[in-house]
Amino acid sequence: MPQHNSNLKVNDHPLKVEHHKTTLDGGSIASKDYEDRYFQDNGFDESKEVYIDGNNLEERWESFTGSCFTVGELGFGLGLNFLTTMHCWLKKERPFDLDYIGIDKKILEKRNLVLLEEAFPNLKKEINIFKECDVVGHNGFECISIPHLKIRLILVTEDIQKAINDICISNIDAWFLDGFDPKKNPEMWTEDVLKAVFDLSSSDSSFSSFTSVGRIRRALLENGFEVKKVPGFGTKRHRIVGRKFEENKKSNEIKKIAILGAGLSGSNLAFNLANSNIEVDIYDALDDLSKGSSGGPIASMYPKFSLDNSPRSKFLIASYFFSLNFYIKTLGFENTGLLFYGSDETKDKWISKILTLKRDDLFELLSDDDLEDLLGVSQIKKSSACKKRTIPSTIRIKKEITRASLYKNHT
Ligand SMILES: C[S@@+](CC[C@H](N)C(=O)[O-])C[C@H]1O[C@@H](n2cnc3c(N)ncnc32)[C@H](O)[C@@H]1O
Repeated sequence: MPQHNSNLKVNDHPLKVEHHKTTLDGGSIASKDYEDRYFQDNGFDESKEVYIDGNNLEERWESFTGSCFTVGELGFGLGLNFLTTMHCWLKKERPFDLDYIGIDKKILEKRNLVLLEEAFPNLKKEINIFKECDVVGHNGFECISIPHLKIRLILVTEDIQKAINDICISNIDAWFLDGFDPKKNPEMWTEDVLKAVFDLSSSDSSFSSFTSVGRIRRALLENGFEVKKVPGFGTKRHRIVGRKFEENKKSNEIKKIAILGAGLSGSNLAFNLANSNIEVDIYDALDDLSKGSSGGPIASMYPKFSLDNSPRSKFLIASYFFSLNFYIKTLGFENTGLLFYGSDETKDKWISKILTLKRDDLFELLSDDDLEDLLGVSQIKKSSACKKRTIPSTIRIKKEITRASLYKNHT
């Protein structure tokens, strides 16, 4: 097995993430970092009363006429509010989509879902749906589609200040403001953040929050929301709810789109837009989809992970995992894994740096025996020997959907 150089470090990277550090506090789950609870003892009832009913969601969904209703959450946390929303959404068939934009600087992991499963057996179905989504957990935007339920979850994993700048345009119909106690965690409740809540809202948006701190009430009011103080849930005396009212409601619903080119990109775009109830016309010189160079019978996907934290790096990671999930879930794409030949020093350095990300859920060093089990090592030795005279040593991307092996040059 190769000795990878531990001096090589990646300082900041979309796959280098922060985890929730949780502890049990009575009947609830608390954060060690913030010394505060994610929710009260009766978390499901709190989530339903404060956020779903606080935004009057179920009633509004009954009369909603748009093609997509968007919820925005400051503090996605362990996903309880998302699961409760899904629980209410699934009570009946809806004629429009639900987008849920969840902002948090920490990622949600499977072990967090196990905690929720124990605490909220009534959400078992929703938790299972969520588990099957194969959430990767990376900084930036991760889009998780559940098309048969008409749900799209967009996780924005960034510090709140960066997140509100990155979400430059949005049409949020209901906000869940759930960023821990404002006294303990003021950065989640700055004037900039509360202004962005208003700016990113649709014309008849609403909000609700567990808190009723005067400074926050005033800031929301100054930005243009009507704010109401109502009795709080459980141990809280008060909480706030509110609406944004605008005289001239403008509809910016897109009804029809023309796409030029029926290749892979054009077809994919058409598929996704059509699934969002948008009528699409595709124009192409050829008389059917993917008849040009996109029409090959075999396709493979190659993750171009770079090692910096640039927008390009974030885009490559987000788009790779999104596409992989999309092709697997929507088209039954079979992921057979990928081989990277670490045939020179640059590639070897790349492998070493990738390992310093400590994403054991994604990358794993393999022994030669593992490789033999995976691929049949003799074949690899033969093909690499004739080209570069390399002996393979191995790392693989462990997660089911991203299996790969990397080889180091021993010449
Ligand atoms: C009360 S918890 C949210 C609980 C969550 N809504 C749920 O349903 O599980 C508050 C969340 O705010 C997040 N948070 C705190 N400060 C933040 C910041 N500066 N930027 C982004 N997220 C932050 C924490 O990581 C935490 O998950």
